[in-house]
Amino acid sequence: MSDSKRKILVTSALPYANGPIHIGHLLEYIQTDIWVRFQRLRGHEIYYVCADDAHGTPIMLKAKAEGITPEALIERFSAEHRRDFDDFSISFDNYYTTHSPENRALAEFIFGRLDAGGHIKKRVISQAFDPVEGIFLPDRFIKGECPRCGAPDQYGDSCEVCGATYSPADLVNPRSAISGATPVEKETEHYFVSLGNFTDMLREWTAGGHVQEEVQNKLREWFDTGLRDWDISRDAPYFGFAIPGESNKYFYVWLDAPIGYFASFRNLCDREGIDFDAFCQAGSSAEMYHFIGKDILYFHTLFWPAMLHGAGFRRPSAVWAHGFLTVNGQKMSKSRGTFISARAYLDHLAPDYLRYYFAAKLNHRVEDLDLNLEDFQQRVNSDLVGKVVNIAARCAGFVNKRFDNRLGATLDDPALLDAFVAESENIAAFFEARQFSRAIRAIIELADRANQYVNDRAPWVVAKREGADDELLRICTQGLNLFRVLMIYLAPVVPDLAGRVSTFLCSPVDAREAWARVGEPLLDHRIGKFTHLLKRVEPGQVDAMISASREPGPTANPSQETKMSEKKDDTIDIDTFARVDLRVARIVEASLVDGADKLLQLTLDTGGERRNVFAGIRAAYDPAELVGRLTVVVANLAPRKMRFGVSEGMVLAAGPGGKDIFLLSPDDGAEPGMRVK
Ligand code: 2FM
Ligand code: ZN
Repeated sequence: MSDSKRKILVTSALPYANGPIHIGHLLEYIQTDIWVRFQRLRGHEIYYVCADDAHGTPIMLKAKAEGITPEALIERFSAEHRRDFDDFSISFDNYYTTHSPENRALAEFIFGRLDAGGHIKKRVISQAFDPVEGIFLPDRFIKGECPRCGAPDQYGDSCEVCGATYSPADLVNPRSAISGATPVEKETEHYFVSLGNFTDMLREWTAGGHVQEEVQNKLREWFDTGLRDWDISRDAPYFGFAIPGESNKYFYVWLDAPIGYFASFRNLCDREGIDFDAFCQAGSSAEMYHFIGKDILYFHTLFWPAMLHGAGFRRPSAVWAHGFLTVNGQKMSKSRGTFISARAYLDHLAPDYLRYYFAAKLNHRVEDLDLNLEDFQQRVNSDLVGKVVNIAARCAGFVNKRFDNRLGATLDDPALLDAFVAESENIAAFFEARQFSRAIRAIIELADRANQYVNDRAPWVVAKREGADDELLRICTQGLNLFRVLMIYLAPVVPDLAGRVSTFLCSPVDAREAWARVGEPLLDHRIGKFTHLLKRVEPGQVDAMISASREPGPTANPSQETKMSEKKDDTIDIDTFARVDLRVARIVEASLVDGADKLLQLTLDTGGERRNVFAGIRAAYDPAELVGRLTVVVANLAPRKMRFGVSEGMVLAAGPGGKDIFLLSPDDGAEPGMRVK
């Protein structure tokens, strides 16, 4: 990479202004923020902008339901979002709103240019209309029975039970999710962008290395099926910008949302005297990157470049998509307490932990990322606390107590420090390419070497030796300088820790251009008192966060048309539950299972029928205690072949696990085989 200063504009997707930021969102903001902080550390001129995505039907309806104006609603969420981002150290240069004068002006300008270029046309369409509310209904606001499996209460675009996708017109017994009325079809004139006009330009652009490889394949499919006209208008009532020359038609939220990137940047430029055109005009040599979730690729790789090009702006240097976040291998779930809001996380845990964990797992691909909460604790404790901070903890005390806080003038092993510095371009290349997990691996390997060095040189032994003060100081100076190099490499990932380390070392590890000074060790330099830099994650903190996030029952509000980095809640509906055959069973035999320390083998009497079931309740029960007791069993669970035999059902138990599992004990009146209602 050349040393010259690059001009870079970076964005993360704009969160909707009608719901809290959660850890699914944070995957993206943390990914972007690490990349941006890294570029700042390299000394480039980089601006990171974002905004609340403030328009659209769901926001309008939520405000109405709360009896407030949409402006008041978006104001409230904007303040909440800003606080959350600040507390996660997401270092936006500007955080704005799409409901702004700059965005209105830019949206009108881009629309005008597209129109003048012959890319806008009007067409009459027929759309579902709620005759009671007097409002056209987006797909997500029509509910009915799934045309494929008959499941009730499904949205107009897809079935959450069988996964079928369809159009609202296919729903059986459709009704408005707002009023409950049966929708009627009504004609209305809409504005469309002729996306097909841009096919050649988009083909050339997407083939030019501006999207990830796997996205290119997806795009080829989209090109092959042909680019359809894009409907960019919505009828009143709508919360958004009125289309110039129209009183009852508005720009669709997805038209002005990406323009919001430019509007936020414009607002920053006007405030700080930055040259907007140098970054945004066609032919600009500045770089522009959009970090997004994989669910909004179509908008960013087709609509957005077409709008930009059609209006005479530059196109993105790249659009970088990431996958979804799962927690403990499953979709985030309110009932399991894994749908964790930014605030619920912050109430219990430090942001640097999550930032580190995401970095340790993120790469440049569009892959889903799993937050495994056990692995999370383990990695943070073992890498950050046990390896990185430990280096300083083992050396600092001697410098503080024996050498009046002053580092020595020479290193004990200059070649070792050189080896650490020699890794800087390698690690930089990983950060640059968004291969954060590889950067972290390289850094932790260095931390292992630093700890090995401290082990070998054992300053605590040298400290006891008469007349070995010089040697002791050289060793500690070496250790703390190795630590400093690691912390410069880690500064984009763990900014709060980097801040505390800068104070302790009396030298910033996180300053702009700090990366270039990695090879300038701190010698004959006064440091501060070593204080606790980072606490271990305690299991209780994670448990408390999960408990605080747990919500009973299903969540069924129609929310925005598209969500970011979040898989849907996996609650089941009543019909699915009704298919579960629950029966009372008597435990007639119970025994330990050889080679399985969590299982018990149970023989159940389900009313004249015997079944063999393996249950993971050994920690909680002595088998002898169970014999003769009643329990509830899922009788229609498909038999499962396990290492120890076939399990023919499942015993219901509840509780936090370990010793505290509660096996349900039905009333005395129950008889084996009875159905549980
Ligand atoms: O999917 C979403 O959450 C949208 N609010 C993202 C908008 S990104 C950009 F285009 F504005
Ligand atoms: Zn279905």
